[in-house]
Amino acid sequence: MTELKITSKFTIFHTNTELTKQDQELLNKAIEARDKAYAPYSNFCVGVSILLENGKIVLGNNQENAAYPSGMCAERVAIWTAAAQWPKTKVLKIFISANSSKKIVDKPVSPCGACRQSLSEYELNQGSNITIYFTGETGNIIQSDSIKDLLPLTFDNTLL
Ligand code: THU
Repeated sequence: MTELKITSKFTIFHTNTELTKQDQELLNKAIEARDKAYAPYSNFCVGVSILLENGKIVLGNNQENAAYPSGMCAERVAIWTAAAQWPKTKVLKIFISANSSKKIVDKPVSPCGACRQSLSEYELNQGSNITIYFTGETGNIIQSDSIKDLLPLTFDNTLL
């Protein structure tokens, strides 16, 4: 028997002014998308901006439904929108912001497991890392250099 230890690296930014100007703009775009989320059932709004290698910025937000499981998370709305429009263009960065009308979201909101799995597929296919930043409404912004930090031991298509 052997032991496998897996480490993940995250950088914590204490305020958005610690980000580069371009990254601040990308975070602002995620906030703009968040404010357009359709979340009448949870009142939990998530917005995402994606920077592509061709310089395009793609936005997404969560879209809920009266039949609850028919809704979709912001991260998958955004990555699928990007993949639908620019299927061969690499994703460089993803920014996520979340808030709620019920409470102040003061902790970074990381993508759910299903979104991690979906994002991972695109990172593996493009053969280069996707940088991910996630935050709440206030508080720290957490950054990682790869989706692998969020989802080690990913299920991927080499296993099929
Ligand atoms: N949500 C996202 O958009 N992204 C996540 O990673 C987690 C959750 C959405 C789904 C639902 O509309 C609301 O947040 C509450 O779960």
